[in-house]
Amino acid sequence: MSAVLDMRGVSVRRGRKLLLDDVTWTVHEDQRWVVLGANGAGKTTLMQLAAARMHPTTGQVSILDEALGTVDVFELRPLIGFSSNALVGSVPPQETALNMVVTAAYGVTGRWREEYERMDERRAFELLNAWGVGTVFDRPFATLSEGERKRVQIARALMTDPELLILDEPGAGLDLGGRESLVRRTDELITSPTAPTTILVTHHLEEIPPSFTHVLLLRDGRVVDAGPIEQTLTSESLTKTFDVELTLHRRNGRYSAFAD
Ligand SMILES: Nc1ncnc2c1ncn2[C@@H]1O[C@H](COP(=O)(O)OP(=O)(O)O)[C@@H](O)[C@H]1O
Ligand SMILES: [Mg+2]
Repeated sequence: MSAVLDMRGVSVRRGRKLLLDDVTWTVHEDQRWVVLGANGAGKTTLMQLAAARMHPTTGQVSILDEALGTVDVFELRPLIGFSSNALVGSVPPQETALNMVVTAAYGVTGRWREEYERMDERRAFELLNAWGVGTVFDRPFATLSEGERKRVQIARALMTDPELLILDEPGAGLDLGGRESLVRRTDELITSPTAPTTILVTHHLEEIPPSFTHVLLLRDGRVVDAGPIEQTLTSESLTKTFDVELTLHRRNGRYSAFAD
């Protein structure tokens, strides 16, 4: 079984703050991981490493059998679909939804190259349609609703037909209907035979689609626990992760938790 992502003793330090502390984690091709943790736990930092957007301060990261630090990240990035608000800050205000998706083919935000293949535009348009946002293709990204933006970001992450898909809080800011439709579409996407290996970051258990197989629980930059979701996601592990007494509920493959 080949590892899509392999981290060994990884730490990230910024000034005196340790954002990640001795993280060891392996993701195999046929697994679908949820990463859970409170605000500030280090989830986005971990995903920036996994998406080859950042290097660790110490430790080794290898992605798709390439070791970070020895590989040209610009060749690696198209193989990784990354949807995160961490990327949205660099989008020019007038960038249209369609261009947001098309430019992913080049691993950049901002449409700086004029020579795009018509095929790329057609694929981007099909992805927008598949995610229910085909009608806003020519609108500036900045003017879209939160739900529309999230869908455009996922379409963008899928543009290069990646081998690893990372969705960092795709449901943040969505209303109830938007969240449920996102969970359903994500589930359909990742259970299709050609689906990439997927990592989903959230702090809401309700956003976990039923098909996810593994969970990593993060607290203050450290791994609380990681493994198959059935055994690892428990009231005890959630209580440790969020530092609140929580009771886990599971119904029809979906999860929720409440304070005691
Ligand atoms: N460049 C930085 N310098 C110092 N602290 C940072 C920096 N980037 C993030 N942090 C801090 O690191 C912690 C983890 O951030 P992040 O990975 O975004 O967490 P999460 O995604 O789980 O909310 C937070 O406390 C955040 O404020
Ligand atoms: Mg985050």
